[in-house]
Amino acid sequence: MGIVLSQYLYISTAPTLPREEVDAILSASARNNPARGITGLLLFNGRNFLQLLEGENTEVVSLMETITADPRHNGVSVLDRREITARACPDWAMKRVIIAESIKSRREMLERDLPQDLDPELRKMIVNFAVLN
Ligand SMILES: Cc1cc2nc3c(=O)[nH]c(=O)nc-3n(C[C@H](O)[C@H](O)[C@H](O)COP(=O)(O)O)c2cc1C
Repeated sequence: MGIVLSQYLYISTAPTLPREEVDAILSASARNNPARGITGLLLFNGRNFLQLLEGENTEVVSLMETITADPRHNGVSVLDRREITARACPDWAMKRVIIAESIKSRREMLERDLPQDLDPELRKMIVNFAVLN
């Protein structure tokens, strides 16, 4: 039997966050996540974050607590929480997924950039978030 991992998908609100702060968040993630066995992806649309986190349950829960307390955003709202036996993002300490300017090219960019091993239901939730203006 393989190791059971946890996968969380949440959204949050950060309407006045300077874009450069997203780089700082990604730097912290690249610094911290590998040692904690955390992988995932992060989207920022200028107003809201969407993040997928996966790893051992205790590590993901602990990171969720840290992230929820982070004053750079608020209104953290968990959309999905499930057990997985294989990571969707095994190679990404925290991948920044860019949302294209043109709504028309967003879907095709996401279809290309989102991990193939993501559950179709989660994939749909992420794409729907990303196409909201
Ligand atoms: C939307 C968002 C996502 C974040 N994701 C991560 C993450 O994946 N890993 C991480 O270590 N910190 C993440 N952070 C930052 C943490 O809240 C916290 O600032 C950081 O872990 C502190 O790291 P340090 O103790 O190395 O300075 C995130 C913050 C926000 C606002």
